[in-house]
Amino acid sequence: MLIDTIGRKITYLRVSVTDRCNFRCVYCQPPEGAQWKSHEEILRYEEIAEIVGVMAAEGVHAVRLTGGEPLVRPYLANLVRMLAAIPGIDDISLTTNGFLLEQQAAELAEAGLKRINVSLDTMKPELFKRITRVGTIDQVMRGLDAAEKSGLTPIKINMVVMRGINDDEIVPMARLSLNHPWNVRYIELMPIGNQSPWGDGFPAPSSMYYPIQDIRDQLEPLGLQEVHGKSGNGPAKEYRLDGGLGRIGMIAAIGEAFCGDCNRLRLTADGFLRPCLMSDWEVNIKEALRAGKPILPLIQQTVEAKPLGHELAHRPAPEGRCMMQIGG
Ligand code: GTP
Ligand code: 5AD
Ligand code: SF4
Repeated sequence: MLIDTIGRKITYLRVSVTDRCNFRCVYCQPPEGAQWKSHEEILRYEEIAEIVGVMAAEGVHAVRLTGGEPLVRPYLANLVRMLAAIPGIDDISLTTNGFLLEQQAAELAEAGLKRINVSLDTMKPELFKRITRVGTIDQVMRGLDAAEKSGLTPIKINMVVMRGINDDEIVPMARLSLNHPWNVRYIELMPIGNQSPWGDGFPAPSSMYYPIQDIRDQLEPLGLQEVHGKSGNGPAKEYRLDGGLGRIGMIAAIGEAFCGDCNRLRLTADGFLRPCLMSDWEVNIKEALRAGKPILPLIQQTVEAKPLGHELAHRPAPEGRCMMQIGG
């Protein structure tokens, strides 16, 4: 069992399978994108499976694949198949922008992927283009449809709420959970990722923070009830609207920090293990693996290095790595 210095049990690993992305979301990247790692620097699927195998023997049961955008890495279903064969791994999930989901949903489900979380900050096509700089919403909606047909459920929708940009869609997005068995999640904008001016008429990133409590207040009149019993392994608090098929989730990294319940480590695409999204502490597990050295001591060191919490309410996250290399 992996237990940290304050008794938090580590049962969940987030694996960034690539630092590449087919979008350029304003809060994540500059318009020109970021410098990508070379193929040799990136962990091979066999290497990822080996690391997960060692962690599974220590009680990790859930793996979430992230990016960049995980679906741009070729043959991702092969990795899913390898992970699904590891004893003890019973929840393989994916966080995606949804753009390539239509083509890949059926194959991923067949390989053993259980469920997906899809970023969708707006239902307005022009604003969707403005935020992602590249994507088209129709393509993502077709991806959601394909995921639903393939049984990649419960589908979770991630909406990063930005004051003055998409806050008028808080209620319409919640209504998606009435007619669809979707879990619509509101995410507080974190001072991590692209902290430079975003251009294209966006205000300063720091002025767009929108507290979860204000979102809850807006949804109260729709009959918001807290749900006990989580649908995932993450930090979301879950609710339901009166008569809703799906759920509502609130992820408040700043307003209601959830570090006390943190259960995860992160593996970067280039093979570094990290104890926290917000800390730049990391260890080169790829080097040890490629040198044939034992990796369990590095995993244990990472668990011991888990910080008690973060200081996002007071200062931006450290800038050692960009969001895309860590995977959110
Ligand atoms: P499940 O509950 O298993 O469905 O997953 P999840 O909610 O952890 O995954 P997802 O990738 O959809 O993450 C949703 C949001 O939570 C993203 O904005 C992440 O950056 C954020 N998030 C996930 N884990 C952490 C964490 O450890 N710390 C912080 N501050 N944010 C996190
Ligand atoms: N603050 C909050 N959420 C973010 N994401 C990316 N950047 C940020 C940020 N600065 C979200 C994406 C995706 C998830 C992995 O993280 O929208 O849904
Ligand atoms: Fe790509 Fe996700 Fe970053 Fe958007 S938030 S640019 S989809 S990695």
